[in-house]
Amino acid sequence: MTKWLQECDITYGLIIMYKNVYIRTFGCQMNVHDSEKIRGILQEEGYLLTDSPRTADLIIFNTCNIRQKAEQKFYSELGRTKSHKKKRPEIKILVAGCIAQHEGENIFKKASHVDFVFGPQNIHMLKGFLRNNKFFIATEDNPDIAVIDLPVERGDGLKAWVTIIYGCNNYCSYCVVPYTRGPERSRPSEYILSEVINLAYTGYKEITLLGQNVNSYRSNTDFSGLLRKLDTIEGIERIRFVTSHPKDLSDELIDTISDLPKVCEHIHLPLQSGSSNILKLMNRGYTYDDYLEKISSLRKKILNISITSDIIAGFPGETDKDHLLTMNALKEIQFDGIFAFKFSPRQYTRAAGMENQVPENIKSERLKEILRIQDNITERINKSLEGTVHEILVEGESKTDSSKLTGRTRTNKIVNIPKRDSCIGKLINVEIILGRKHSLKGKPV
Ligand code: SAH
Ligand code: SF4
Ligand code: F3S
Repeated sequence: MTKWLQECDITYGLIIMYKNVYIRTFGCQMNVHDSEKIRGILQEEGYLLTDSPRTADLIIFNTCNIRQKAEQKFYSELGRTKSHKKKRPEIKILVAGCIAQHEGENIFKKASHVDFVFGPQNIHMLKGFLRNNKFFIATEDNPDIAVIDLPVERGDGLKAWVTIIYGCNNYCSYCVVPYTRGPERSRPSEYILSEVINLAYTGYKEITLLGQNVNSYRSNTDFSGLLRKLDTIEGIERIRFVTSHPKDLSDELIDTISDLPKVCEHIHLPLQSGSSNILKLMNRGYTYDDYLEKISSLRKKILNISITSDIIAGFPGETDKDHLLTMNALKEIQFDGIFAFKFSPRQYTRAAGMENQVPENIKSERLKEILRIQDNITERINKSLEGTVHEILVEGESKTDSSKLTGRTRTNKIVNIPKRDSCIGKLINVEIILGRKHSLKGKPV
């Protein structure tokens, strides 16, 4: 529960009857941040957060359809809310996010108990719905999205997501995002700067700039220019960004990251496949050799940079040889970590209709092999950090062990340290005493 919930029980002697809202978020950081905007609007409208749909007057699903699994999860949870609505017909059920955009009014056919469907470009319409139940569906393209600033209710007061680009123009052949989030639109740099100045003023120390392809940011400055401006904001200690697209990662940007003290030494640079043939079918706009060049330039110019990536196993037409090339790429590049997924055919995308779809069992086997190779690499890299000293931003109690505090290095690795309440919210130096696959153990120095 966030601060504002506990603060607003009684105002000037009047007991106010608040309504409860339950928000369930699926998918990527953009959706997580969109849910912060949804919470911001709801706070202004006097709603309180609840962590159970049973006690909610309003249930909101912020959905993702990047892969079939995410979609199935949502539909099964949505199905379960039918019984709540039967018992209490006055409750409202809202579907937001990428499935809302993709399916539009089909959602009402699939689930007649849904009241309002709104896509990621139409979050601002939520207010109208809450006030007068006027809209039932809002999925229009919104050319003004980059200049509509919504209230944001963030969680921890320390790290903040900040959108710099909405949408995507890349049309990778497997991906639904250009269809669900619309065309790429950069947010004017003045808006971004003023948001970050405000965040610094309220005590935030770290920002993560968000976009499907932050490297293609362009308003009155490009991404390098934006980073240079943000780096001067007093109070902000760390700047991160996701996601970078290899085709738009310029030498100038690499130099900028290397020059600026607040920009962290970590890049998430999705490779997707080690086979240039598959990269072409994916419409990624680079070959494996192009990608290797970027990696070598990053490592040359940014000392100790950590590099993470995304891999898709079993893209249509992927042969054993292509798969081998991906496994060799992992061994050659030595990523600090990856997210790997089985290819999931998505409606309207080109790849879904391609010939030579890879059977499910082969996709699973390839995914397993990819993960096994990467796990060993990650473990080796983390082990090699034992004895070295890193700065971490201490975020709070570890989710898995309440006797520990947790924070991240500038290279985005999780470090758990013994509990000492006084260092929460601070940047401290720690020595790594144990390097494991998913986290590091450290002690303050
Ligand atoms: N904009 C980012 C990625 C956003 S989606 C980029 O271009 O890199 C996050 C990841 O999901 C992708 O990098 C990709 O690896 C994976 N993904 C997207 N669509 C997929 C699909 N249809 N099947 C499997 N994985 C997919
Ligand atoms: Fe999807 Fe490609 Fe856009 Fe990333 S760059 S969101 S993978 S279309
Ligand atoms: Fe993100 Fe999923 Fe949409 S990954 S952009 S929430 S489809």
